[in-house]
Amino acid sequence: MILVNENYSLLQSSYLFAEIARRIREYESTNPPRKIIRMGIGDVTEPLPSACIEAMHRAVDEMASRDTFRGYGPEQGYAFLREAIAENDFRARGADIAPDEIFVSDGAKCDTANIQELFARDIRIAIPDPVYPVYVDTNVMAGRAGPATDGRYAGLVYLDSTAANGFVPAPPAEPVDLVYLCFPNNPTGATATREQLAAWVAYARANKALILFDAAYEAFIRDDATPHSIYEIPGARECAIEFRSFSKTAGFTGTRCAFTVVPKECRAFTAAGEAVPLHPLWMRRHTTKFNGVSYPVQRAAEAIYTPEGKAQVKSLIDFYLGNAAIVRDAMSRLGYEATGGANSPYIWVRTGMDSWKFFDKALRECQVVVTPGAGFGRSGEGYVRISAFNSRANVEEAMARLSATR
Ligand code: MLT
Repeated sequence: MILVNENYSLLQSSYLFAEIARRIREYESTNPPRKIIRMGIGDVTEPLPSACIEAMHRAVDEMASRDTFRGYGPEQGYAFLREAIAENDFRARGADIAPDEIFVSDGAKCDTANIQELFARDIRIAIPDPVYPVYVDTNVMAGRAGPATDGRYAGLVYLDSTAANGFVPAPPAEPVDLVYLCFPNNPTGATATREQLAAWVAYARANKALILFDAAYEAFIRDDATPHSIYEIPGARECAIEFRSFSKTAGFTGTRCAFTVVPKECRAFTAAGEAVPLHPLWMRRHTTKFNGVSYPVQRAAEAIYTPEGKAQVKSLIDFYLGNAAIVRDAMSRLGYEATGGANSPYIWVRTGMDSWKFFDKALRECQVVVTPGAGFGRSGEGYVRISAFNSRANVEEAMARLSATR
């Protein structure tokens, strides 16, 4: 008899963004068409930088000739891309990361979801609340979270990220083994200071724990004092894995390219307490289960590190940050408490009402889609997340429409 993975029945609801899409479809099917403005899922709207497009075109042409055609590439990514990443994203910031510590992949969502395969089932996991739901759901599927009561899983340690701590939780008093952190944060838009990250690294080293650091929104950091990488913190190489993505940095959500950094010193432990390096384990997993990102896409990603590419990425991010400022100001003018949006594409807005109710109200009365904070965890109740990924005209129209929520 084929037995099903019953852990799936412990999942709370459908995946957040699938549920939002379902509600939009249901609304659209029963209501006269007025343009819906989507500021829910963080999906980019602007075209790829021209440096990426040109590089991709050249790579496609190479695939058209026997002399330059390429079949399978290295699963971990081509050396040209890994070298550009190591140099520009890490060494240029004083973070000592080598090209062979970088694993190119098709998404930070997949990597943050898959990495938990490397760990034992009975580890203690700390999860911020609110949080990107992938971290929780993949551990539920793997049988690590146990049953849920009132929206919280018995097997997880929740780190409340609230206005009281500036949406940056401090390490817990109790020891945990695995910690998920995301800065700039999805969904709150908060950033962590060097001192706050240093406290997490010290905690991880003292407790033989591991930090999974999701830096998918790193390109939005404009404040010079804020670290872009956990590896800017001394000691992080032994206790942190970092996830990055070209999705939000350069508009690759549909093109797919990301990477994960696993330093050679990074370790987990056997039950007997012996340290085991994680780099060869992730190498084994990646080469067994993944066949690499396509050559034209890796060439397109490489192009963001050229002088033209850097300038184009900067103006792309500046554009979305301009949208974010419009959203934050408009929501503040309407009398909502609004944070984030300064070093992040997300604005976190306190609605003063149940967050799914606000979602429904914004959809039905304004035809604007936002993301209900409760979908990110209990501490997100009473908030919504507004994404700055949209055209300027849509952002302005959405803000004008949302005045009807007051
Ligand atoms: C989000 O809206 O939180 C993100 O776009 C989801 C993702 O990157 O998978």
